[in-house]
Amino acid sequence: MMYDCRKGECGLCEVTILDVDGVVDHRDVFLSRRQQASGRSLCTCVSRVVPAGGGAGRAARVAVDLP
Ligand code: FES
Repeated sequence: MMYDCRKGECGLCEVTILDVDGVVDHRDVFLSRRQQASGRSLCTCVSRVVPAGGGAGRAARVAVDLP
């Protein structure tokens, strides 16, 4: 996995989302709002997937295409 800033600014850690069970919590500033809303990619250094509805104790999963 390539990375540089580890602050969500450079985009080097961006991966393509293949499947997600949950909601992507985008915490980067690299992807535009439109790109984030598309749900097709995320910056792995700062973003994560959380359970839909914020359910405590529920699992969230994401499958990504690693470069
Ligand atoms: S390492 Fe720079 S955005 Fe993730």
